[in-house]
Amino acid sequence: MKGIILAGGNGTRFKPATLSISKHLLQVYDKPMIYYSLSLLFLSKIRDILLICKSEDLIAFQNLLGDGSYFGIKISYEVQDKPNGIAEALIIGEKFIGKNNFCLILGDNFFFGHRVPMILQKASKNILGANILTFESNTPQDFGVIYFDKNQKPLKIIEKPKDGKSNSVIPGIYFYTPKAIKYAKQMDKSARGELEISDLNKIILNKKKLKVFQMGRGIAWLDMGDPERLNAASNFVRSVQTNQGFLISCLEEIALNNKWIKPKKLKQDIEKLKLSTDYYKYIMKLLSDKKFK
Ligand code: TTP
Repeated sequence: MKGIILAGGNGTRFKPATLSISKHLLQVYDKPMIYYSLSLLFLSKIRDILLICKSEDLIAFQNLLGDGSYFGIKISYEVQDKPNGIAEALIIGEKFIGKNNFCLILGDNFFFGHRVPMILQKASKNILGANILTFESNTPQDFGVIYFDKNQKPLKIIEKPKDGKSNSVIPGIYFYTPKAIKYAKQMDKSARGELEISDLNKIILNKKKLKVFQMGRGIAWLDMGDPERLNAASNFVRSVQTNQGFLISCLEEIALNNKWIKPKKLKQDIEKLKLSTDYYKYIMKLLSDKKFK
């Protein structure tokens, strides 16, 4: 299984900050936004990852994440200069995907809850055409929404519906077989000029190859797409971390738990960085635990 993280777009709702920086590099409490979506790929045990961003942001992402070897993973990069739609990521990533199943995640999405790793690992297996997740939302009109029949079978998908008849929204994480690339290539752009991910999912739904994993109310979904939501996400992360003493989306911690990196090597790498923010103090404390000795 491979992973694609989509971090292009205009970030219009964050102007002026996004005149000079990708939205996905803005700070969400104590770490860059992209860490949160990356952590979901890490929790899905995906370690071969393609990051797609605008060419002007490439250096900044490479400075932050490099080739991934620090985390024991492989990160490659491709460019999407115009936001031609989420489904374009499949076409840009065609060579990278090859014959593999893959997960596509948007760089401004994040969810949190103790069943998340289990659900992600389940959704990453047995893909007929696409496996998607759903959340209940009070504002379905802002998202792609899925409707179910009386037997809870997926019936149809509507982008930003106004009818209020379903609250099951589809967050920005999708698991596909490589066949989805072919469908994406056959699609037409929507009225707003984008290759819509909802249109791709509709094609797969019509072929009866779309499976849905419903996230219960014990899982928080944080879409960080505007200043208000980013601030809410920051406060959420701060509150959970302060109360529990655990960091959310500490990539080094997940990589250690996945046994992708050796504790000794990580300790040396962090010592070289000579940084002592709370983020790195947390990792150093973790490394002193007998589990990592
Ligand atoms: P959006 O929120 O639709 O767009 P945006 O991030 O550019 O923000 P704004 O609406 O304020 O201009 O995008 C959702 C996510 O998908 C976000 O992480 C950016 C990413 N994206 C791309 O990388 N390329 C695209 O073509 C689109 C449509 C989105």
